[in-house]
Amino acid sequence: DWTMSAFRDEMVQKIRDQVGDGRVICGLSGGVDSSVAAVLLHEAIGDQLTCVFVDTGLLRHNEAEQVVTMFRDHYNIPLVHVDAADEFLGQLSGVSDPETKRKTIGRVFVEIFDREAAKVEGATFLAQGTLYPDVIESVSARGGPSAVIKSHHNVGGLPDYMKLKLVEPLRELFKDEVRALGVELGLPPAFVGRHPFPGPGLAIRIPGEVTPERVAVLQKADAIYLDEIRKAGLYDSIWQAFAVLLPVRTVGVMGDARTYDEVCALRAVTSTDGMTADFFEFPWEVLGRAATRIINEVKGINRVVYDVTSKPPGTIEWE
Ligand code: XMP
Repeated sequence: DWTMSAFRDEMVQKIRDQVGDGRVICGLSGGVDSSVAAVLLHEAIGDQLTCVFVDTGLLRHNEAEQVVTMFRDHYNIPLVHVDAADEFLGQLSGVSDPETKRKTIGRVFVEIFDREAAKVEGATFLAQGTLYPDVIESVSARGGPSAVIKSHHNVGGLPDYMKLKLVEPLRELFKDEVRALGVELGLPPAFVGRHPFPGPGLAIRIPGEVTPERVAVLQKADAIYLDEIRKAGLYDSIWQAFAVLLPVRTVGVMGDARTYDEVCALRAVTSTDGMTADFFEFPWEVLGRAATRIINEVKGINRVVYDVTSKPPGTIEWE
């Protein structure tokens, strides 16, 4: 549409004016915002851009691969993919307190990002996919990689990459505008239409200790749930939908055998900004199909429940 394309040209020009012939590092999280920022930057400054994708191993099923394929093969954007799953999971071992999980992930993220950014020779700028709501401190108020970067403004001993000048091309935009811009830039609508995803990723959807096995179980259940939501044509009516893996075992029967496995909670909410939210009123048959498939297809889960808590008094995430 005309407005978006004029806007895009304006933003491209602004980036060129700010950056000149400097080198820019862009942190990719796997999410929509940083992806749109990266594609916009690439359009503006081409090979002066290097993207650094710190893969925590805590993304949704297949998401890391999708991001890498799209950036490298489709857009040809220089991308450093750091597979840091072992490092994150190692540091998370034995950690079950939600805030400690966030801090641990934030700390490991900064260490790794700093290390990788230092390898990009001659970089003078750091680009982030900060949105207007992040600027006014709402969505990321509970921390996570993006908030960690911001909170480091306030402390002594800045990591090296904070000596870089910030480029935040999306900082005047809301989520729906970022999505429209992404489509304008040629990103697949299904990609930019993905639900928001928290920086600490699946770690805060696994109450209790996060282990590689539990992450794998949750990824499978979550993928099935989202698949059923998409098939029912409901994905775009929902602000966020995800599965949570509870550290609770209950008894079930499978064939003529007794099972004693974990519980999966399904969450779906409508919202406009994440600040308040209502639980989503599913048609029962959609929930039923998702539950049946999760129990049949995911080893380790034998019961599924649906969360009918709105925000407030609940939060969207479970931790
Ligand atoms: P809550 O759970 O606070 O979530 O109702 C509101 C919105 O924020 C996201 N969220 C986070 N995003 N780091 C992030 O980057 C975090 O630590 C974090 N915690 C929650 C959540 O997914 C929802 O969109």
